[in-house]
Amino acid sequence: MLIKHAPNGIDRPFGSEITPREVFESRRSFIKQLSLGSIASASMLEMLSREAFAQNAQAQKLSAKPNPSFVVMDKQTSYKDATTYNNFYEFGTDKADPAQYAGTLRPRPWTISIEGEIKKPLTLDLDSLLKLAPLEERIYRLRCVEGWSMVIPWIGFSLSELIKKVEPNGNAKYVEFISLADKKQMPGVRSPVLDWPYVEGLRLDEANHPLALLALGMYGEVLPNQNGAPVRMVLPWKYGFKSAKSIVKIRFTKDQPQTAWNRAAPSEYGFYSNVNPEVDHPRWSQATERRIGEDGFLTRKRKTLMFNGYSEVASLYSGMDLKKYY
Ligand code: MTE
Repeated sequence: MLIKHAPNGIDRPFGSEITPREVFESRRSFIKQLSLGSIASASMLEMLSREAFAQNAQAQKLSAKPNPSFVVMDKQTSYKDATTYNNFYEFGTDKADPAQYAGTLRPRPWTISIEGEIKKPLTLDLDSLLKLAPLEERIYRLRCVEGWSMVIPWIGFSLSELIKKVEPNGNAKYVEFISLADKKQMPGVRSPVLDWPYVEGLRLDEANHPLALLALGMYGEVLPNQNGAPVRMVLPWKYGFKSAKSIVKIRFTKDQPQTAWNRAAPSEYGFYSNVNPEVDHPRWSQATERRIGEDGFLTRKRKTLMFNGYSEVASLYSGMDLKKYY
């Protein structure tokens, strides 16, 4: 994500065009290790670096049953790329910042409160949330509004399982997701780059779509801090910024929520933000994307698909002008 005018008045470069130094250097050392004639295969090296990373993050295994109905066949993004190239502005605006600074986030103990227009308000701790529904592994594509995408094996369950438990009342039309904003744990919250807390929202029928995933893990482990520990949304047919991380509150509302990015730049980031190759961002095309991990010198960009390829959501928007409701 980027902001048209930084608080100091200097325009930011288009973030996704810049390879963070850490990523570049780690790729370089990876290539060097290979060219040194190491007998380790690329996959072994990947495993080793993943192991080292997991130890740093004190990652815990999380088992889940693969759900074959929610699997894209594209090659998965490496764990390293998925955990070192992130947007999580609560820890800084550079892609490498979350991996570097999110160690201060304490994902346990954690509570998430479910409130608003529902019959059964709830406050859940993490263990109760983990037990709310069977955990599934789903391999989703996620497309960032900046023009890059990843393929990640997430762990979680449909948000609809939670919605069922709290029984929305007749006034509930929207669902708002509110992320933690704690200056002590999140250094980026001290900067006015967004109006904190990070807020996102969906229409209730979108939230009830089986694809809308409440995620608690990825790659067989609990979520790393930089990916939104301990609980986040994953909405694969929408641009990545709709998938709020480190959620502390889910609120059911009558009115359309005021989302953080829509408030920051309403002409650039709409409420719906469905992936749509035909609706350009005011400052760049959305027709193609760069798959992270495929960014070799001669690699061609991929064509972006309507709804990121998740055409089963189309009926949610029938009759709507998606240029107007971008
Ligand atoms: N959630 C919070 N709380 N803060 C953020 O800055 N960034 C969003 C989204 N959720 C963000 C967030 C954006 S722009 C993207 S692309 C995805 O998280 C990135 O998720 P990933 O780092 O796991 O790939």
